[in-house]
Amino acid sequence: MKESQPSAIYLKDYKVPPFLIDKTELTFDLDEATTIVTSRLHMRRNPAFGKSTAPLILDGGEDVKLIGVAMDDYALPPEEYRISEDKLIITATADEFVLTCETLIEPQNNTRLEGLYRSSSMFCTQCEAEGFRHITYYLDRPDVMSVFTTTIIADEARYPVMLSNGNEVERGKTDEGKTVVVWHDPFPKPAYLFALVAGDLAVKNDVFTTQSKRDIKLQIFTESHNIDKVDYAMEALKRSMSWDEETYGREYDLDIFMIVAVDDFNMGAMENKGLNIFNSSCLLASPETTTDDTYLRVEAIVAHEYFHNWSGNRVTCRDWFQLSLKEGFTVFRDQTFSADMHSETVKRVEDVSFLKTAQFAEDAGPMAHPVRPASFIEISNFYTLTVYEKGAEIVRMIHTLLGAEKFRAGSDLYFDRHDGQAVTCDDFVAAMQDASGFDLSQFKRWYSQAGTPIVTVTDSFDEATGTYRLTMKQDTPVTPGQPTKLPLHIPVRVGLLDEQGVALSAEVNGVVAEDHVLHLKSSEQEFEFSGLTAKPVPSLLRGFSAPVKLRYDYSSKDLLLLLSADSDGFNRWSASQQLAVNEITTLINQAIEGKALSIDSQLVHGFKALLNDETLDPAMVALILALPSQAYLSELANPIYPAAIKQARQYLKIQLANALSPDFERVYRKHKIQGEYKATAQDIAHRSLKNIALSYWLEADSELAQQEVVTQFKTANNMTDQFAALSIAVNSQHNKAAELLAAFYEQWKSEPLVVNKWLMLSASQEQQTALATVKDLMAHPAFDLKNPNKVRSVLGGFGQSVAGFHKEDGSGYHFLADQIIVLNKRNPQIASRLCTPLTRWKKMQPELSVMMKAELERILAEDLSKDVYEVISKSLA
Ligand code: ARG
Ligand code: ZN
Repeated sequence: MKESQPSAIYLKDYKVPPFLIDKTELTFDLDEATTIVTSRLHMRRNPAFGKSTAPLILDGGEDVKLIGVAMDDYALPPEEYRISEDKLIITATADEFVLTCETLIEPQNNTRLEGLYRSSSMFCTQCEAEGFRHITYYLDRPDVMSVFTTTIIADEARYPVMLSNGNEVERGKTDEGKTVVVWHDPFPKPAYLFALVAGDLAVKNDVFTTQSKRDIKLQIFTESHNIDKVDYAMEALKRSMSWDEETYGREYDLDIFMIVAVDDFNMGAMENKGLNIFNSSCLLASPETTTDDTYLRVEAIVAHEYFHNWSGNRVTCRDWFQLSLKEGFTVFRDQTFSADMHSETVKRVEDVSFLKTAQFAEDAGPMAHPVRPASFIEISNFYTLTVYEKGAEIVRMIHTLLGAEKFRAGSDLYFDRHDGQAVTCDDFVAAMQDASGFDLSQFKRWYSQAGTPIVTVTDSFDEATGTYRLTMKQDTPVTPGQPTKLPLHIPVRVGLLDEQGVALSAEVNGVVAEDHVLHLKSSEQEFEFSGLTAKPVPSLLRGFSAPVKLRYDYSSKDLLLLLSADSDGFNRWSASQQLAVNEITTLINQAIEGKALSIDSQLVHGFKALLNDETLDPAMVALILALPSQAYLSELANPIYPAAIKQARQYLKIQLANALSPDFERVYRKHKIQGEYKATAQDIAHRSLKNIALSYWLEADSELAQQEVVTQFKTANNMTDQFAALSIAVNSQHNKAAELLAAFYEQWKSEPLVVNKWLMLSASQEQQTALATVKDLMAHPAFDLKNPNKVRSVLGGFGQSVAGFHKEDGSGYHFLADQIIVLNKRNPQIASRLCTPLTRWKKMQPELSVMMKAELERILAEDLSKDVYEVISKSLA
């Protein structure tokens, strides 16, 4: 452990910057080993800071070497500046001056993948959140916005493509024959949106004509062997550009928009102004190598980064506590976009399922934090599901409360009012409130209060008056640093069904409708529905109108009714999940008590009806057939018994498979599509239903199904079907699983993104030898510790293996801790993310919990990066 530990910074301490940087001129003399960066910063004291003689303090990094610093071309002697804790401090400055800094950085030794680094044969950057300080000394904070001009000097033969933000304005040669390219971005921006790319890249060109008839040049760059895989991303980009014009009235502003794919990237992608940089796994797509879910992810992330041009770049964040201002809003925008491109209900189910599994777990764990955190040690740790996904739910609730039209008026006002500014979540809410007249003052607590609220609903029916009453209680659990919670403003969308499943109209507060948004604002509140003749079945929280845990004592009969008849597609899915959770919970308890598992599953009836209903969207049927995941069941459990959960889930699956085997076989055959692969909602739906039907059919121990899995693996004309067959074989421990895995690697070893899928699946296997398997994988030639995608595939896959990760002797935890310790210094961001499964130790069954805790303590004894220190220390607190 270090002598002194990193300390937290607080939202309440925010002060405007003492200095501004009107213009930033950067010159990069690019070289793999040592790149020289010269910056000329046109600075002045910030009038908003008030009269001050405060010293100039610039952010830097331990990997930045200062060569020299000058003020108005006067080279500062060493006694006029100092470097302390990575900061460059200059005591005496004029009110206005040009600061010149020369720094040396080593791109090829940059393993953190923040700042300027090498990925394969190219140079690229990642500056969000605080990466720019690893390039040169700067006021690296989002409220310092500057106009950037970037000069890149490099050897043209090796780096024919040299890119930065904005427009290329000059191109020439140095005396030594190197190429010089100058880029200028007219829009003032914070340093986190700076980008530079250089490499020998292929390009795909296209054009988009905006609504005001401006032609925008679109370019996607990749290494040449991947350029045949960018067509889908290009089309998705054009769809995003049109959608943002139609839905938000937002037109693109520069004349050129570029995207570059890089192999080594900590996150998914980055919205740098005019020059988005993508993890190649989130951009490249081809039918042979890419599965349906990745197609959809590529489309969503292309849209997400593009949408940031307005929600993030034109209007940015004042400070990093406001991260959800851009991320929550932009996730909401990309979710709605994908819903519009495909199916609204399917998209909603997928998003909610993810939220309830992963974000709810975060909100219940040691790193629980508000959507607008009050403090952090390392901001990179706050690119979380809470900031992104729960943040998007907050924006969605505002949309629900205001209605589409007023929401749009609110977003128009927000963009107009704050264009070119760095603002806060309060400013966003204020624009929504001002444009709509809707009081959002209590609603704003959603930004500052952590934890998932529990809404408990009871009901009663008064025969005499035909009145149905719902009583709702809300309660938000205690989270770290927040011992008491205030009531939230929760929109609860509700409909009522009669015994036959027919939608009922009822009157609430003078409004007669089949669907009502109730405003739950107190800790306990009653709602009255009048005009009914019998007690209805309530369909609660339709469309998942708020990110809460809903408790209502539904009978299996009610749930089957909702599953078969609710007009709200989302709640049909929700009812099926609840039924399955109830049954699996019974089975889990039997397993924990060491009893033989047994259940008379009611789901059989629901599934039978679904499998025989030709009118349903096959995608919805597939979602309903998918049993709640191990991860979701773990989120619900306390304590978590991983092996019992796995056993219970598997037991129910086999029960359903045995009871409905002919139905699954028929559905499997019926939904096979002939012909060319298309990533359309319709074809994706057929494939998803077909493949889940196959997975059940195989569990029924059918010889025919076993053959069919192998046939599909061998004959599929697309990766979705081939990989589905492989996963099904591996997950069911098919006797050909190992053979198919080996064949798959042989077939695809020259396609890294496919190999990553193979790594993940191989690492997730449920065998007693799982730990040995993962160790072999890390020694495999396909593995590379420097590549975050590969690390995530192998260690993420391993985390899913109950037999491997949760091995009774704790060796799985020990192994993961070893990897975290290795990566801690090399790549703190990735190391920190890998800690997540261990941080859930408090909820784990006692024998496993103590071993997890011991590993956390072992990690804490190391000399830790800020990233890992924050996560580990908070989870042990
Ligand atoms: N702004 C990017 C996005 O959401 C994510 C960048 C995160 N980078 C990081 N180092 N945490 O699209
Ligand atoms: Zn984003």
